[in-house]
Amino acid sequence: MLIAQLSDTHIAVPEDEFSELYHPAEKLRNAVRHVNASVNRPDIVFLTGDLVNSAKAEEYVILKEIVAEFEMPVYLLPGNHDDCTLLRKAFPNHDYLPSSGTLNYVVDGWPLKLIALDTNIHGKPQGHLGEAQLAWLEEEISKEAARPVVILLHHPPFKTGLTSMDAMGLLDMDDFVDVISRYDTVERVLCGHLHRAIQKLAGGTLVQTCPSTSHQVRLLLGDNNELGTAFEPPEYLLHYWNEDSGLVTHSDYVKEYDVAWTLKDGVKKA
Ligand SMILES: [Fe+2]
Repeated sequence: MLIAQLSDTHIAVPEDEFSELYHPAEKLRNAVRHVNASVNRPDIVFLTGDLVNSAKAEEYVILKEIVAEFEMPVYLLPGNHDDCTLLRKAFPNHDYLPSSGTLNYVVDGWPLKLIALDTNIHGKPQGHLGEAQLAWLEEEISKEAARPVVILLHHPPFKTGLTSMDAMGLLDMDDFVDVISRYDTVERVLCGHLHRAIQKLAGGTLVQTCPSTSHQVRLLLGDNNELGTAFEPPEYLLHYWNEDSGLVTHSDYVKEYDVAWTLKDGVKKA
């Protein structure tokens, strides 16, 4: 099983100065083409939040048109830049999204159980789960005696050292970590929000954040962390599962590179 994780697509309307700076829609179109044509073609795709930039209905119209180009099932999670009501309204055909309440859901039918959580606090950059969502998460995890569980949520449940981003973190991360620490079946926690690939062990499980398809957050750690972005290349993650290897995560650029050498053909001439 192969899962592609794309994140922080931040779609904006073309006339927005954000679009002039980052070109997020064009970059997501490139990412869709890349994923569809990849030799490592995923079975399913997750977009782990900040789907749009300013929580406007027009942005979801653009997102919907681009997402429809994926040739495999796509699952959407909200981030802090999203509006859950507009998101639900824009994607009535995405019937895994609950029709009311928080946008939590389970994707079944695979060797892994995939649980998506909604960390959005309307209008705020931080994330929050709360008792009800954590109880629902625990109930869903505990249904699985042996099948591995992967949890997806926008805000990572750990402090990253990018202190300006940590100020916009998951408010009840300790409660989330308490829940996952009680279950050996939790194989991985997959997040967005940081616009970088970062890993940390939390509650006995590897937590992984995904780079953005649009722009990355500058790597400035500790006290020297003024919030800023950089035109580092668009990236995404491929999570490869089989019985022998377990879940292995690879990062890939949204770009085709020329082959330099192959065992069969030797050095490729330019
Ligand atoms: Fe973001």
